[in-house]
Amino acid sequence: MITTNIDQAIDALINGEVIAIPTETVYGLAGNAFDEAAIKKIFTLKKRPFYNPLIVHIKSADYLHTIADDIPEIAFEMAKYFWPGPLTLILKKQKFISDFITAGKDTVAIRVPNHPVALELLNNLEFPLAAPSANPFGSISPTSANHVFNYFKKELKVVLDGGVCEKGLESTIVGFEENQLILYRHGSVSIEAIEAKFGKVILATSNDKTPTAPGMLSRHYAPSTDTYLTDNVIELLKNFEGKKIGLLLFNKAMNAANVIVQEVLSENSDLNEAAKGLYAALHRLDNSNVDIIIAERFPDKGLGKTINDRLERAIKK
Ligand code: TXA
Ligand code: MG
Repeated sequence: MITTNIDQAIDALINGEVIAIPTETVYGLAGNAFDEAAIKKIFTLKKRPFYNPLIVHIKSADYLHTIADDIPEIAFEMAKYFWPGPLTLILKKQKFISDFITAGKDTVAIRVPNHPVALELLNNLEFPLAAPSANPFGSISPTSANHVFNYFKKELKVVLDGGVCEKGLESTIVGFEENQLILYRHGSVSIEAIEAKFGKVILATSNDKTPTAPGMLSRHYAPSTDTYLTDNVIELLKNFEGKKIGLLLFNKAMNAANVIVQEVLSENSDLNEAAKGLYAALHRLDNSNVDIIIAERFPDKGLGKTINDRLERAIKK
């Protein structure tokens, strides 16, 4: 059930239930991070493989040491600069943190969400919340309470409604290795914003057999409709004569035959606006009875990099 009743959400979490919560990035499927039974429920609901670790959400950077150990100074500085906000830090875990949360790794992912409802919730709980995005494994992330409800229906007793997510893309994930910043996932904080303040960020290497972070799996965030990504929409359209087509475009609609729906993400060419609307547009396209979705590649800078990263993983392989 979709509700704005925060007390109901608090009660459910204290009772060991899993609920959906709003954050500034995407909605999360949250449970008590200190309760292994609740953690297992998250995996079952999401049909998420156990090799894919969860993010722990804490109320403020003051609680970092309750989850992580051997925290490098730069991690505190980044937390101070970006939190509450869409940056997740990968740190050495405290011994008692469940292996289900970390998928057996000795590191744990942590962030402080920047959403008034999520923060009010955390401030009323005596435990942190483990929460992956509130979508079945591999599908498009939810940026509204309705997206979550459409995925899980009666399986979720509480979907706490905090409106449309302000950022619309998941958090950026950064770890630390020998004084080096490692990027595990592009996200709502651009690489440029991190580098301007904290120096060079290196991309984690990964492949599908040994994903460093499963958010880097080559197919993820995917609509069920076959999706293509291109620099030249007009050219690609020629390959699909007779098909019903949905377009995902950056800043301008297009005149073309067979195009049934078009989603233009930002007429002002604003990448923040485009990021905020991306998943909702993909959800609409996926539900619009088209045969294929063609997405235009975005400018390869700032949040455009994150949008392209998600679209790369959404495409037909
Ligand atoms: O914005 C977000 O980060 C949202 C909201 C709900 O906070 N959460 C989210 O969670 O996107 P999820 O589970 O969909 O993605 C978490 C990513 C996964 O790709 C996972 O592999 C990675 O974090 N991760 C978690 N722990 C990790 C670790 N110890 N090392 C490397 N990657 C890790
Ligand atoms: Mg996810």
